[in-house]
Amino acid sequence: MKILVTGSSGLIGSEAVTFFDGQGHEVVGVDNNMRAVFFGEQGDTTWNRDRLLASTKNFKHFELDIRKREAVFEFFETQKPDAIIHCAAQPSHDKAAEIALMDFDVNAVGTVNLLEATRQNVPEAPFIHVSTNKVYGDSPNELPMKELETRWEYADPKDYNGITEECRIDRTLHSLFGASKTAGDVMAQEYGKYFGMKVGIFRGGCLTGPSHSGVELHGFLSYLVKQVVSGGHYTIFGYKGKQVRDQIHSYDVVRAFEEFIKAPRPGEVYNLGGGRDNSASLIECIKMAEDMTGKKLETTYTDKNRIGDHICYISDLAKLKSHYPDWSITKSLPQICEEIVAAQDGKATTA
Ligand SMILES: NC(=O)c1ccc[n+]([C@@H]2O[C@H](COP(=O)([O-])OP(=O)(O)OC[C@H]3O[C@@H](n4cnc5c(N)ncnc54)[C@H](O)[C@@H]3O)[C@@H](O)[C@H]2O)c1
Repeated sequence: MKILVTGSSGLIGSEAVTFFDGQGHEVVGVDNNMRAVFFGEQGDTTWNRDRLLASTKNFKHFELDIRKREAVFEFFETQKPDAIIHCAAQPSHDKAAEIALMDFDVNAVGTVNLLEATRQNVPEAPFIHVSTNKVYGDSPNELPMKELETRWEYADPKDYNGITEECRIDRTLHSLFGASKTAGDVMAQEYGKYFGMKVGIFRGGCLTGPSHSGVELHGFLSYLVKQVVSGGHYTIFGYKGKQVRDQIHSYDVVRAFEEFIKAPRPGEVYNLGGGRDNSASLIECIKMAEDMTGKKLETTYTDKNRIGDHICYISDLAKLKSHYPDWSITKSLPQICEEIVAAQDGKATTA
């Protein structure tokens, strides 16, 4: 197959490139390094692009900007991919408010450009749209919560496995990022449901792994570990640092995409995160990284939580597992953390 990966120098895109190239497919990557525009030097993904070009067998990279409609259409006409994995995005919740139009152009318009280019050129190709749990906005915070010593927890046992795809996505506060991603998510569903295209929408929890160019505003675990390893500083925003996230390794994310490509369904939505077993609060993650490295992280606490931040978010993986029983989480949270520590050590020693 010829697989097109957008955002191929980013965390999920680069994992997809490595994975499908390793299986012998031809992989075409699109990334204009816009992460450096969003986050400055620390967000630069050139290192990852160069790593991929050096380590893959059948991968080509293109600096295409997914906002440029005509260029995207031309690209599809010449490339005619057999499957599309759309990972390019402005990925930060907090950043979006500063760059509202750019955020919308990348997350909403860029997504529609790709969906329409697929419809016009390769309508049979499976299309993976990487969405986010921020499409649920604040609604997960409406569940009753109880405070434990180191984390928030759902108070009602029926919520134990977390948030399902039934959660409401409108009439809630999303942040501009959540809203632009919701626009992309709903359009992707529509191309599946209205046109019958094989579009799968995956609403990510905390997606992470060693290839993340983590910055304060995006890539929580990667950034936190980076600060622990380098003796840096970390600011905790609200909820007493007990806010819970579920972490999933980029490898397990891409494995879910593989299953979907093998047996696609039109316009189906899945929550995709680490689930209950890979959930931890911010202060639990800090402790884990400190124990692993023997280093102490200097933290500052500010009472004000990030707008639209979830108090406790765990992805209920039941739907994904029922449609794709061969998929499961293979990397535990401590394993993920160890890999990120090792990658940081590597970067620290080669720097
Ligand atoms: N990492 C997470 O915790 C997380 C959680 C939920 C959802 N997601 C979603 O997963 C997807 C991938 O996220 P990620 O963590 O790999 O982000 P990332 O920032 O690491 O990768 C995104 C890549 O897209 C590229 N890009 C941005 N704008 C572009 C444009 N206009 N044209 C071409 N390339 C462009 C960037 O340069 C970057 O390399 C995104 O849709 C994101 O919203 C991520």
